[in-house]
Amino acid sequence: MSAGKVALRAAAVALACGAPPLAAQEPAEVQAADAPGSADERAASMVVLMTLEEKLTLLKGYFGTDFTPGRFEAPEDARYGSAGYVPGIPRLGIPPQWQADAGIGVATQGGAAEKRARTALPSGLAVAASWSPEIAYAGGAMIGAEARADGFNVLLAGSVNLMREPRNGRNFEYAGEDPLLAGIIAGAAIAGVQSNGIVSTIKHFAVNDQETDRNNGNALVDEGALRMSDLLAFEIAIERGDPGAVMCAYNRVGGLYSCENPFLLEKVLREDWDYPGYVMSDWGAVHSTAASANAGLDQESGFGLQRADWFEAVKLEAALAAGEIAEERIDLMAARVLRSMFAHGLIDNPVTEGRSIDFGANRAVSQRAAEAGIVLLKNDGDLLPLAGGGGRIAVIGGHADKGVLSGGGSSQVYPDGTNAVPGIEPTTWPGPVVYYPSAPLDELRQLLPEAMIEFADGSDPAAAARLAAASDIAIVFGTQWASESIDVPLALGEGQDALIEAVAAANRNTVVVLQTGGPVLMPWSGSIPAIVEAWYPGRAGGAAIARALTGEVNPSGHLPATFPASLDQLPHPELRRGDLEYPEGAAVGYKWFDARGHAPLFPFGHGLSYTEFTFDHLAVAREGDGLVALVDVHNTGKRAGADVVQVYVSGPGWEAPRRLGGFARVQLEPGETERVEIHIDPRLLGTWYAGRPGWTHAAGAYTVTVAHSSRELGESLLVELPPMHLPPDWKPAR
Ligand code: BGC
Repeated sequence: MSAGKVALRAAAVALACGAPPLAAQEPAEVQAADAPGSADERAASMVVLMTLEEKLTLLKGYFGTDFTPGRFEAPEDARYGSAGYVPGIPRLGIPPQWQADAGIGVATQGGAAEKRARTALPSGLAVAASWSPEIAYAGGAMIGAEARADGFNVLLAGSVNLMREPRNGRNFEYAGEDPLLAGIIAGAAIAGVQSNGIVSTIKHFAVNDQETDRNNGNALVDEGALRMSDLLAFEIAIERGDPGAVMCAYNRVGGLYSCENPFLLEKVLREDWDYPGYVMSDWGAVHSTAASANAGLDQESGFGLQRADWFEAVKLEAALAAGEIAEERIDLMAARVLRSMFAHGLIDNPVTEGRSIDFGANRAVSQRAAEAGIVLLKNDGDLLPLAGGGGRIAVIGGHADKGVLSGGGSSQVYPDGTNAVPGIEPTTWPGPVVYYPSAPLDELRQLLPEAMIEFADGSDPAAAARLAAASDIAIVFGTQWASESIDVPLALGEGQDALIEAVAAANRNTVVVLQTGGPVLMPWSGSIPAIVEAWYPGRAGGAAIARALTGEVNPSGHLPATFPASLDQLPHPELRRGDLEYPEGAAVGYKWFDARGHAPLFPFGHGLSYTEFTFDHLAVAREGDGLVALVDVHNTGKRAGADVVQVYVSGPGWEAPRRLGGFARVQLEPGETERVEIHIDPRLLGTWYAGRPGWTHAAGAYTVTVAHSSRELGESLLVELPPMHLPPDWKPAR
């Protein structure tokens, strides 16, 4: 046994016997990092060896990028252009934590002079629209591999805030409005990131569901409703993804800031979910020293970007001296950080900078995700796919001759190659607006070599209409830029609705292709036969769009969020500040629309294909505390394609007529049938009452329905369930 390991063992024994820890000057203590044991044991042993100063080092992160000349210079050891850096402790073999935003790809902070070029996936919402945990995992694994090659070991990913507010400027980073779908997709993406031996966060905990007033907004939702909505999405994603860190949010929840909120950080996260990792703050989301530490915050992030410095060593030391924080609390905070570093490979398999990246292979991962997430919203008269052969096609607007749009803010990924449309305002935070160089026009020309494809930029609607009139078919590209730190109107804006109407008036064979952060209103939808939602489609988005339009790939995405028909259908038609009451409670998205009987423009779960799918022979059985549904899925059309089979459940006294109970994405050849099995988590059959914590199943009849969307329902079966109560810490057996 090495001297270091002996020292570690002795230190652990000393701690157990209440003796003072070993002096810190053991010569070979750097080997303490190699000690055997579980991550918890190794972390606990390591803490014993640390001086107070060393422990405090782990609790404070710096912004990783210089900020406003003279205001803040990033520590020398930070990776350029990154979001964060926490120094290591070389004496003990603990590496620094190099943190990068990485929800969509490895991001570069806008302030950095030189941008790191990396592969962007389609938006988080696009990935959610695939309803495919495999695709989400593959995307996460790709990002994690690029991050590792760059020397990052903590990725600020796993964004899972529910879409309560369709105008939220960050909806594109998230995974939609349903807790089950969002939790499964975000969990898979986190697991993919961490398959590289690095940590992913899950964020932003919790109810950071709009950007307006995000530093002060106070989400007010009943505990029961929260447990069944926003918190359930986190719970499922944590179970499936096992993220090393949870990032607490900017906003307040129930009156207290998220990062000093004992209900969120102690009761929910630790007591009920038994979460073993550490809690880091969002950048500048801390407002106190002792209150935050005692409430369960382990690490403050981003010193420099925000001036907050509540976990500065002198402040923590003063709080210790004043008895406001106990020494054990500091040990616990340091141990939690270390535990994740051990559990996820940061110490055993350290990252190094400067490895090469296979951009070709990674672009293919991104393209596959984009193709799986593109949603064919409408296709009257089978206008799509575009016919091969000759003909005249007008492509109009949306910079389709240059590239595809991406969302802005800290998640912004800069492409290999250049911004295809530089100079669009805002060019600084929350910009720049970035178009990836993957032009749908070029890709269409390649796929349809015999067609005559012409472009009008759309700035002159009359000219665009003339081109459309002279063409067999017109494809209008509509874009909506959204970004962190702003919310956006539920509209395309900039005269694009009028452009679409002018083109449609000139040519009834008009297709609209949307690149939006989330839902938009479509005042023209009635007169447009074919509508495609491509979201922000990522680095190879132009190819993905062209392949979906031409039928090279059969669209298979389904909406992860309701597209409202009008603003007055929303639970809160106005964007608000301050106290944010959410009248919908647990009935987020389609549940609200169903409960109120509103007819959406396009419902949650909706998505067409160039083939047809039918279901029959639904069977339902009890399975553990939940249910399992089995159904035959047939591809009755003429093309191969993927379907998303959805199972909705209904129960007595629920907040809404239906909840998504489970789903499966299945790929079928023409004429092929598959019997799919869909497992229904018992939490989705229960109700959380504030007075009776946990999941209560009332005795009675529950309905299980197989469906193409939340509004296109198929066969149903009734199941009688006995009364049951699952405790707050119930977890699925996995
Ligand atoms: C965002 C986080 C992000 C952090 C670091 C904050 O503004 O809310 O999502 O990870 O910055 O860039």
